[in-house]
Amino acid sequence: MSRYSFPTPKSSEITPRDVYLNRRHFMGGALAMGAVLATGEVAFAAPSGIEPLKFSAGLAPALTDKPTARELATTYNNYYEFGTSKADPAHNASTLKVRPWTVEIGGAVAKPRTVGIEDLLAMELEERIYRMRCVEAWSMVIPWVGMSFSKIAALVEPTAKAKYVKFTSAARPEEMPGVRSRVLDWPYIEGLRMDEAMHPLTFLTLGMYGETLPNQNGAPVRIVTPWKYGFKNAKSIVRIDFVEEQPQTAWMTAGASEYGFYANVNPDVDHPRWSQKHERLLPSFFASRATEKFNGYGAEVASLYTGMDLAANF
Ligand code: MTE
Repeated sequence: MSRYSFPTPKSSEITPRDVYLNRRHFMGGALAMGAVLATGEVAFAAPSGIEPLKFSAGLAPALTDKPTARELATTYNNYYEFGTSKADPAHNASTLKVRPWTVEIGGAVAKPRTVGIEDLLAMELEERIYRMRCVEAWSMVIPWVGMSFSKIAALVEPTAKAKYVKFTSAARPEEMPGVRSRVLDWPYIEGLRMDEAMHPLTFLTLGMYGETLPNQNGAPVRIVTPWKYGFKNAKSIVRIDFVEEQPQTAWMTAGASEYGFYANVNPDVDHPRWSQKHERLLPSFFASRATEKFNGYGAEVASLYTGMDLAANF
């Protein structure tokens, strides 16, 4: 077992309490929005900077499950830069300054460039409702707003040397209390093979539920690959590099035997400490459903892995 790792998920523990606490935070936040305590401190930061977005309906495989309630999707998060409990990001992430924000895009490209968040928001956006599956065996259904990552690649023109894409998240100890502790090797790094990154389902995400991303969900820009475990989806991205070698990811550094580079959702390959055969579609903590290979997106993505041993390349 690695030094830093996800706790072993058990259906009967942790989550109901987390959500309960989150609900209290949420209600506290709603009541105290803008309110100032006698000490002069703001009790809870009001959700700031969230703006409605213009978008069209995107092409994504249709789902039978309804989107998860926004309140749950924005209060039950993994974002270790803001703490390791599910409640921490919603509670702590208001300190992250998401404007101004730029993303440096470089590496093996003909036209490296720095893109401002306003430039990304001005591009044609679409909504995609995706099933999301965390490695901890819970899942949600989230309406994301953004664009296929391939549009970003087209801006910089990757060269023949580009075999992988490396995503680097912000790591700002001043704004992110979790970065002051060595819970992961900062900055958070993730990566995709070039053909995975260019797959039309791979989504550069700027919003959810029709609005810009809340900080706890990775504002102002993150990546979403719906057929992979959630840890592949780096939040608050500041750098995108097209590279020749497979990037060393933060979770591979934390525990390579537990968190592989590919991280495709796969009921046949258990995590060393728990089964991946079933999952809990939140908020149903107890009802368990069968995990689908590639999280149900096999028709779209299975061909990317033809001839690969997915147990060895987990
Ligand atoms: N990105 C950064 N920078 N830091 C993180 O801790 N957690 C990952 C991923 N991206 C994480 C991250 C994990 S484990 C998951 S499950 C998803 O974000 C959760 O995304 P959500 O909170 O929007 O559901």
